[in-house]
Amino acid sequence: MSVRHFLSMMDYTPDELVGLIRRGIELKNLRNRGVLFEPLKNRVLGMIFEKASTRTRLSFEAGMIQLGGQAIFLSPRDTQLGRGEPIGDAAIVMSSMLDAVMIRTFAHSNLTEFAAKSKVPVINGLSDDLHPCQLLADMQTFLEHRGSITGKTVAWIGDGNNMCNSYIEAAMQFDFQLKVACPAGYEPDARFLALAGERVQVVRDPREAVAGAHLVSTDVWASMGQEDEAEQRMALFRPYQVTRELLDAAAEDVLFMHCLPAHRGEEISVDLLDDPRSVAWDQAENRLHAQKALLEMLVEPAYHHA
Ligand code: CP
Ligand code: NVA
Repeated sequence: MSVRHFLSMMDYTPDELVGLIRRGIELKNLRNRGVLFEPLKNRVLGMIFEKASTRTRLSFEAGMIQLGGQAIFLSPRDTQLGRGEPIGDAAIVMSSMLDAVMIRTFAHSNLTEFAAKSKVPVINGLSDDLHPCQLLADMQTFLEHRGSITGKTVAWIGDGNNMCNSYIEAAMQFDFQLKVACPAGYEPDARFLALAGERVQVVRDPREAVAGAHLVSTDVWASMGQEDEAEQRMALFRPYQVTRELLDAAAEDVLFMHCLPAHRGEEISVDLLDDPRSVAWDQAENRLHAQKALLEMLVEPAYHHA
């Protein structure tokens, strides 16, 4: 089956990704001008959330409604998935009724298993490995504020987690240099590092990573599913807090991003989201616009009238 999915930034060409982001900006503009644009009338997105969410759920649900369609929220608790129905079986049935499926899950293999049996596009709404939708929003936000990110330097501070892995993929696709500063043992996944080669450098010292950076980004120290490790991580990650002073060591026109939710006083200082260099609120809003562009591209347009 030749249906296209969005499980990773690597599923599209660099040109397609730039096109998506530019379309996100256009769709944002249409919405700001109050223009009705409903190409997905009658189309239905299923959303399976195995983990909590504010932004991802809202942006996909609101996005589908704004495009003229609808979204259905599902969780393992209220579907047979939670009672052990095989993922492949669920994929066959769900994709026979829906026009696209978004999944937020733990093991990335849940997404690939579902996609293998799905007749409709499957979108990664975050897995333990990757968070590609967030990167669409981040890249849109950088483009809006600073222009092309190609050739720039980006610093990732803290945990080498799903967001960090997606930054590595973005570094390859958008052609920027990425410096990751993390404690020993919390490096990003070796598979992604190997693919990225020279494009990504891992260092221990956050000041070394931010030197000359045009974008600094971080994320929580304990991701969803790592709650048991939270206390131990807290002590280890303490030197990796992003502060105004750390941003002072970056390029003069540096931007700060955080995918949110943020823990003030942990991965960021309490005042960081109020700093003029932070674009975290724009970044959050852009989830809506970037994903509308993604939905427009992936979901077949409206039915013809009989
Ligand atoms: N950034 C992000 O994905 O937020 P949610 O967990 O609220 O969806
Ligand atoms: N790394 C975080 C991102 C949340 C949007 C997590 O997986 O919990």
